[in-house]
Amino acid sequence: IDFKTFRTDTGGVITLDPGFKNTGSCESAITFLDGEKGILRYRGYSIEELAEKADFLEVAYLLIFGELPTKEQNDKFHDDIKAESIVDEDVKKILDAFPKSAHPMGVISSLTSALTAFNPSSVNVESEEDMYKSVVRLLGKFPVLVAWTFRKKEGLPLDYGDNSLGYVENILKMMFRKPNGDYNQNKILVDALDKLLILHADHEQNCSTSTVRIVGSSHAGLFASISAGISALWGPLHGGANQAVLEMLEAIKVDGGDTKKYMAKAKDKQDPFRLMGFGHRVYKNFDPRAKIIKVAADEVLGDLGIKDPILDIAKGLEKEALEDQYFVDRKLYPNVDFYSGIIYRGMGIPTDMFTVMFALGRLPGWIAQWREMRLRKEPIGRPRQLYIGATERSFVPIEKR
Ligand code: ACO
Repeated sequence: IDFKTFRTDTGGVITLDPGFKNTGSCESAITFLDGEKGILRYRGYSIEELAEKADFLEVAYLLIFGELPTKEQNDKFHDDIKAESIVDEDVKKILDAFPKSAHPMGVISSLTSALTAFNPSSVNVESEEDMYKSVVRLLGKFPVLVAWTFRKKEGLPLDYGDNSLGYVENILKMMFRKPNGDYNQNKILVDALDKLLILHADHEQNCSTSTVRIVGSSHAGLFASISAGISALWGPLHGGANQAVLEMLEAIKVDGGDTKKYMAKAKDKQDPFRLMGFGHRVYKNFDPRAKIIKVAADEVLGDLGIKDPILDIAKGLEKEALEDQYFVDRKLYPNVDFYSGIIYRGMGIPTDMFTVMFALGRLPGWIAQWREMRLRKEPIGRPRQLYIGATERSFVPIEKR
């Protein structure tokens, strides 16, 4: 279905734009993206510079409040987040009710929504002060929920982290601390995760962010809006692609490692198979995040001394796709998710947790977009439609149908 315009009953003109390919939904001062040139900037700062010089919490502050924090602002922000890192003990009961086989994205989306029930004052936020409380509350509690979701799946005891650590270090400790409390800090992994989270932190009006804004536009609370965003991120055409990439690479390996066979499948129009981790709605030359992450993946696996046949398959696919006319013609390049899964795997994070890690990174962006939408007093999101159903008909009683 292509873009078209149509008239309403009252004579107005409405555009029909499936997938919103040509429709702007808002004005925003958060993220600038030029898909042709491969430019991505948060609040004016290039993603390359931020990934190299900033840490994740500074980037979160920048996205949400518009400026890089001073040392004092940064310390206060971190302290306020730490003060909110306790999660109601009853949330553990909800977690316990999920089967061990539950997908972590379903679990984390439910737990995030449940936070509203445990923090009812987070719903009717009008003032900036109320918003700030919700923001630090969520930034404090979300990593705990992520760690608990992971540990429950792994059969590990649930506990809190160590508030003397940095935000990202603490996340890794909460996830990987052994039942006896032992934890070996690995600077390479902390730095790599910091970078990965920064690269995922915002990406303007994508599917999950638009979901957060549209749910939030009804004045549902922040936690409910973010929970909806998590559900949107789950799908394989969006954040779920990082899991799908690894599953695809595994399948190719099990099938004998014949990348050409899978290239042919991806090009076959009768076959629904797509090369996961390739293509992007906006980036049509390259994904700048993929460029940074590719280098990071090589560094992490090199530093950790990991030799992974999956990585060889990934490199083979990438090389073939970049030289293949089908992919060149359609401007299909590896996207950020093509490489992120490889790093997460190197870190020892299970495949079905990959999209949860993406959500952890995207959290500040969702929050920033929600806050901007509320502060700008945007109207409720309510698209129109082009009706193509039956014209008026008379009701037929059930015995006569
Ligand atoms: N493998 C094979 N062919 C593809 C792929 C792919 N990964 N992606 C697009 N194509 C083809 C389509 O079949 C179509 O071909 P046609 O013109 O001959 O019909 C053409 O390229 C355009 O594809 P669309 O689906 O119209 O492009 P769109 O912009 O709507 O989709 C998307 C972008 C969803 C990312 C798509 O490229 C895709 O499905 N990629 C794989 C999933 C993926 O990696 N998602 C992660 C996105 S990044 C993120 O969310 C962080």
